[in-house]
Amino acid sequence: MLKKIEAYIRSEKLDAVRMALIEIGVPAVDTVEVQGHGRQSGIKLAGRHSTYVVDTLPRIQMSFVVSDEDVEQVVDVILKTAATGNQGDGAIFICPVENLIRISTGEEGDDALTYEGEIDIAEHQVNRGS
Ligand SMILES: Nc1ncnc2c1ncn2[C@@H]1O[C@H](COP(=O)(O)OP(=O)(O)OP(=O)(O)O)[C@@H](O)[C@H]1O
Ligand SMILES: [Mg+2]
Repeated sequence: MLKKIEAYIRSEKLDAVRMALIEIGVPAVDTVEVQGHGRQSGIKLAGRHSTYVVDTLPRIQMSFVVSDEDVEQVVDVILKTAATGNQGDGAIFICPVENLIRISTGEEGDDALTYEGEIDIAEHQVNRGS
């Protein structure tokens, strides 16, 4: 059985979370920059001349699919690497996934998650442009 993990994290935590996920063997992750807010609905900023409210703040949405048995470890790693202990640290969603089909091989389900050989960390570091 597979689960999709969708995590909303602080942008500055992306590298730490991503590298920690690679270290525990998560083979693939998507990241998107999003604008969002939690229950505090943005923040008030005090400028020199006025105070204004920012309705949404930038966050990173990470999503990836893992085996059921890896969910606990993945959540632990995200909690450890993404938390500052303050409001606005984000949220993690765990969603059921019906199937995963690896296009290059046609493998399905848990088989599509296995990877023979080391995960190439260098490949993961190529697209780090700002
Ligand atoms: N229920 C949710 N649905 C979708 N996105 C969410 C949800 N909760 C949080 N997010 C995402 O996480 C980001 C940060 O949320 P935030 O940590 O402020 O949530 P919160 O529920 O207000 O918790 P806290 O009280 O710790 O701030 C949001 O900008 C949004 O992108
Ligand atoms: Mg909040």
